[in-house]
Amino acid sequence: MKEKKAYVLVYCATIVLVVCITSAASAQTRKNTGRVIFMERCAACHAPNGKGNLNVIAMVNGDISRIDLTDETTAKKQDVDLRSTILDGRGLMPAHKDKLTAVEVDHVLKFIRQLGKKRK
Ligand code: HEC
Repeated sequence: MKEKKAYVLVYCATIVLVVCITSAASAQTRKNTGRVIFMERCAACHAPNGKGNLNVIAMVNGDISRIDLTDETTAKKQDVDLRSTILDGRGLMPAHKDKLTAVEVDHVLKFIRQLGKKRK
């Protein structure tokens, strides 16, 4: 009988451990997804650090703040506004609604917000 109890205990402990590991791993994936999407689809114009690629400065008539996603002007904007810029594009910013799912846009938006916070 004692042995059976020990088995049950080990079984439960294993389940708890597996659940912990899986949820930690998926949190990590979420964080990476935003970064991966940004590096693949956005960094060409916005630079890997989000401050804007000087090579495309002509797209915004020399006004880096329009492609700097880490500055005040972006930080002040609401998520809905940034999301609609990402989905529908604006000026020379291409639309991404055919390229990214709503969930991917959320990931990338979260990544942009993080870039903005790191700067302070
Ligand atoms: C071909 C270049 C290009 C690519 C690729 C690009 N952008 Fe942009 N993005 C721009 C330009 C140019 C603007 C400025 C638009 C304007 O103000 O006229 C902009 C503006 C933005 C803004 C608005 C910033 C603000 O302060 O209002 C966000 C947010 C943004 N881009 C996110 C993204 C994300 C996320 C991706 C990748 C999924 C991406 N962009 C890919 C060129 C690009």
